[in-house]
Amino acid sequence: MDLKDTFMLSNGEKIPRVGFGTWQSKDGEEAYQAVKTALEVGYRHIDTAAVYGNEASVGRAIKDSGIARSDLFVTSKLWDTALAKEDAAREIDESLSRLGLDYMDLFLIHWPNPLPTRPHFAERNAQVWRAMEDAVRAGKIKSIGTSNFHARHLLPLLEVAEIKPVVNQIIINPSVQQKELVQFNQEHDLLTEAYSPLGTGKILGLSELTELAEKHGKSVAQVVLRWSVQKGFLPLPKSVTPARIRENAQIFDFTLSSDDMALIDGLQGLAGTARNPDENSH
Ligand SMILES: NC(=O)c1ccc[n+]([C@@H]2O[C@H](COP(=O)([O-])OP(=O)(O)OC[C@H]3O[C@@H](n4cnc5c(N)ncnc54)[C@H](OP(=O)(O)O)[C@@H]3O)[C@@H](O)[C@H]2O)c1
Repeated sequence: MDLKDTFMLSNGEKIPRVGFGTWQSKDGEEAYQAVKTALEVGYRHIDTAAVYGNEASVGRAIKDSGIARSDLFVTSKLWDTALAKEDAAREIDESLSRLGLDYMDLFLIHWPNPLPTRPHFAERNAQVWRAMEDAVRAGKIKSIGTSNFHARHLLPLLEVAEIKPVVNQIIINPSVQQKELVQFNQEHDLLTEAYSPLGTGKILGLSELTELAEKHGKSVAQVVLRWSVQKGFLPLPKSVTPARIRENAQIFDFTLSSDDMALIDGLQGLAGTARNPDENSH
């Protein structure tokens, strides 16, 4: 297995099994260089979002890489300011334009319950989903999905969706395992993408992980990403540091035993928990 290995989504599209995260990678040189390095290292799947403010730099790095578009997988996300179908249609076009792409491989509703329409999230999500379906039919997006959705948000969407979501991107790392939601995703043919797979850096200091990393001659980040891959998740590690971008890609030359996996499974709650998407302030 390597960075170019793929999962098959429920709509038949292929998605590289590890993605490269870009949240908090500053627009301009920082995001540009990070994505450029990631593509040189071998990542073929880049995760961005309108609200990260760096789509233009991500797109420039993609273009300058010279890699064939068909060998790349690019995801962006619809921000909470899109409340109606027309907003979503416009924002899809704006993301495409900032990225400098003809199509996105995957486009996600970023959060399920924006403040302005709360608690009427089902109506809002149905509206923006219509625009996302139109964009699929127009060839602007290959696959559509959700992020930060729980069963209570997905069930009404699944009822009205003519084109089914194929991915649910949620926070998953050893401290935040969301087992029930992972099972719900599986039962509904939704691939679980694991965001903040390193807990935005917060889980890297756990002593249990340091010992395990020493045993394998790997870094804690590599052990945690390997755990995510062996669990069947699709991790999206972020870094703007070239050595770490390389390090996070070297996770295919060792295997965690079932005892190692069980030890990491036992770290739930030790370094942070998930936010409730119905209580966000945006
Ligand atoms: N859908 C959503 O709502 C949502 C929310 C959050 C994240 N995401 C996605 O998931 C991606 C990853 O999540 P994340 O950004 O929260 O963080 P993460 O990947 O869990 O961790 C990134 C942090 O860890 C550091 N780091 C990375 N590799 C390291 C290594 N090998 N050793 C030590 N430190 C290391 C990075 O520092 P440096 O960068 O300074 O090297 C950064 O501070 C995001 O970038 C984004 O694409 C999505």
